[in-house]
Amino acid sequence: MHLPTLALLASTALTLAQPDCTRADHYKPGSTAIYMPFRGNSIECELGYGNNSNAVKALQEQINLCYGRYLAAKLAVDGDFGSKTREAVRIVQGRVGAGVDGRYGPETRGLMNWGVYFNGNPSDVVCKRLRDWA
Ligand SMILES: *[C@@H]1O[C@H](CO)[C@@H](O)[C@H](O)[C@H]1NC(C)=O
Repeated sequence: MHLPTLALLASTALTLAQPDCTRADHYKPGSTAIYMPFRGNSIECELGYGNNSNAVKALQEQINLCYGRYLAAKLAVDGDFGSKTREAVRIVQGRVGAGVDGRYGPETRGLMNWGVYFNGNPSDVVCKRLRDWA
């Protein structure tokens, strides 16, 4: 077996390691609160084509906030992870240097920007990676 095959197998195993996100909540890495996909009390979860939940709504809202200008049209925040959401995730992944597979998981979560409204003003959004919010 060639080394690149081993590396691919390892990264596939990592992306399969987390359960599906099922709900949305506020994650508090520092003094701020970021609306994100959750499973239970954890952000360690994944989303993909066919999922339908408030977790998907949170992802769609975040993609619109921080990446809407790169989409042909903003996503409907309807909780349905269909082909438009999958394509939007691919666009985000391409921009942030994540593997482009159209699924939301640990790598994409860590590399993408997450938006927070300041002063409750929708035009005043700051987008940063999770580690930079901490
Ligand atoms: C997410 O979608 C996959 C594929 O359709 C499905 O197997 C899984 O049950 C869904 N998860 C949830 C939490 O709905």
